[in-house]
Amino acid sequence: MNEIEAKIKALREELEQHNYKYYVLSAPVITDCEFDIRLKELQALEDTHPEYADPYSPTRRIGSDLSKDFEQAEHRYPMLSLSNTYSEGEVREFYNRTMRLLNEPFEVVAELKYDGTSISLIYEQGRLARAITRGDGARGDDVTANVKTIRSIPLKLMGEHYPDVFEIRGEILLPWAEFDRLNKEREEQEEPLFANPRNAASGTLKQQNPTIVASRKLDAYLYHLLGENLPADTHYGNLLAARSWGFKIPDVIRKCDTPDEVFDYLAYWDVERKSLPVATDGVVLKVNSLRQQRNLGFTAKSPRWAIAYKFQAERALTRLHSVSFQVGRTGAVTPVANLEPVLLSGTTVRRASLHNADIIVGLDLHIGDAVYVEKGGEIIPKIVGVDSGARTEQTGDKVRFITNCPECGAPLMRPAGEAAHYCPNESACPPQIKGRIEHFVSRRAMDIHIGPETVEDLYRAGYIKNAADLYTLRPSDLLRLERWAEKSAQNLMDSLEESRTIPFERLLFALGIRYVGETVAKRLAHAFLNIGQLQQATFESLMQVNEIGERIAQSVLSYFADENNRSLIDRLRVYGLQMAVDEAILTDRSDKLKGLSLVISGTFARHSRDEYKAMVEQHGGKCSGSVSGKTNYILAGDNMGPAKMEKATKLGVKIINEDEFLKMLDE
Ligand code: IVH
Repeated sequence: MNEIEAKIKALREELEQHNYKYYVLSAPVITDCEFDIRLKELQALEDTHPEYADPYSPTRRIGSDLSKDFEQAEHRYPMLSLSNTYSEGEVREFYNRTMRLLNEPFEVVAELKYDGTSISLIYEQGRLARAITRGDGARGDDVTANVKTIRSIPLKLMGEHYPDVFEIRGEILLPWAEFDRLNKEREEQEEPLFANPRNAASGTLKQQNPTIVASRKLDAYLYHLLGENLPADTHYGNLLAARSWGFKIPDVIRKCDTPDEVFDYLAYWDVERKSLPVATDGVVLKVNSLRQQRNLGFTAKSPRWAIAYKFQAERALTRLHSVSFQVGRTGAVTPVANLEPVLLSGTTVRRASLHNADIIVGLDLHIGDAVYVEKGGEIIPKIVGVDSGARTEQTGDKVRFITNCPECGAPLMRPAGEAAHYCPNESACPPQIKGRIEHFVSRRAMDIHIGPETVEDLYRAGYIKNAADLYTLRPSDLLRLERWAEKSAQNLMDSLEESRTIPFERLLFALGIRYVGETVAKRLAHAFLNIGQLQQATFESLMQVNEIGERIAQSVLSYFADENNRSLIDRLRVYGLQMAVDEAILTDRSDKLKGLSLVISGTFARHSRDEYKAMVEQHGGKCSGSVSGKTNYILAGDNMGPAKMEKATKLGVKIINEDEFLKMLDE
């Protein structure tokens, strides 16, 4: 082995060790920045020496841009489901039945039931060979490229004492924090939200582009080892062995000798699971001895040696009064169920989302129906079923999706392949007009100090029909309206004046181009520098911008193709809004904070918190909302929160004040 090859090998081993410490043990020993430096070093060596390429290299976890349809693969052992139980009584029945069939004492392993999407990982000679989804149980999709991006899944195993060939099964999960972050981002870009982390995880795993998968930070918890030459003759022993090979085996698994121990476990986790980083929906009980498992065997659908106990999802029965249809600023029409108020998980539920037309049809919903609402892992309560037996003569009509916009009467459209209906009357449909103006004035966009009620008043009085009209308002117009006085009118004039200095990228976000959220707006602004060049951008030039895909590119093109939008922009230009990136910002960029993660906390004297945030980003750093092991500095002003302070001290994170921070940038 020559020097280069040895160096590559050493780097690969070192990086995988760090991945394991970070993602499996949650105990990193180097900073993200140090990790990235080594990863880049390895990437550079691999680029210049393709003869040493290795599909198991940690550089391959980043995902390639290759898109392909998934191939199907047969499961060597079928992927079965578990029979569900919902009460202690049913768990006792499981115990009694098992006792009867085995006629000898047995141990049970209790585990949490993770609510994600199941995966089968096949290892050959200690390397991840294939990752296959459950599919129909007999065959599934080969999603190896995507699964390789999950850092807690070892590409190569540790130690030597693993079988040549084996499968390990488990659950791929999107942690709550990532789920929230992803949905926030989707909300900003007006993409449909994921209803729960399970859908988000399986949707992500089926992504054609592994780079997107890599960006979503999936995790994997493993719970079942299968193969010919397993190290132990118990399920528990095998999981411990798998843990020593580098797999993330949950440490909450428990061996239980009696039903009472199981009941303690159920009671404990029914409460404690709420503080876990991932979603769980029950407990799985498995007979520990593999010999006893073989004796018990399988039914057609599930093993006799295991059952799932499902935690009670909080559910309530109530009545459907009506369905209303709401039109958003993009014209998307959302059906909302209006319910007889009912108490669920401590809050009164009056409304539930029905998402789209297909859901309504699927439920066969009638007005007046008795409906079950649930708030399991979901954010918004949803209708999970109808008690159709409770229908009477008085039950009303079948709920039908409307054909015309409830606000402007235009016939609705449903684009091919989409679940949502849209009102196409962008230029004259009131909620779309008002919604666009509300978005334009919002704090993160142009920060013009008026709320939805004022927008409504001004629209109704005929003063504004689009964002540009705001700049034609005169104090005398406002004073003619209710609730306006000299002072409030002057305030609005002042904030309109100030909005003329708002940077171009925020104006771009404020325009409300579909799928162009804050981050995309920033990217577009920095790539095209001014509105003129962006207006002339081609599909190809848009696609060249980092993280801009087909959908966003199309949306930008069709926005500028619309005459109304072009004249709106022309007017905004005349009114003096920023139509180009500030040169000063462009020249004032640097890499001084590259790889560093900062938390900004408290109030400052010399700049606002947003300005500090912008400075951090301008110099290549990242801002985060909470202190963690990954935080490099806390930029602390006055009145920093005590919890943050305590955590920072505990983790040994360096705290700097604003003068020290500004000095860092000056150096
Ligand atoms: S064992 C034949 N253990 O639940 C038994 N499954 O309804 C194989 N699941 O498809 C499954 N946590 O996706 C097992 N600790 C756990 C689990 C678990 C979640 C899921 C898994 C499976 C489904 C069965």
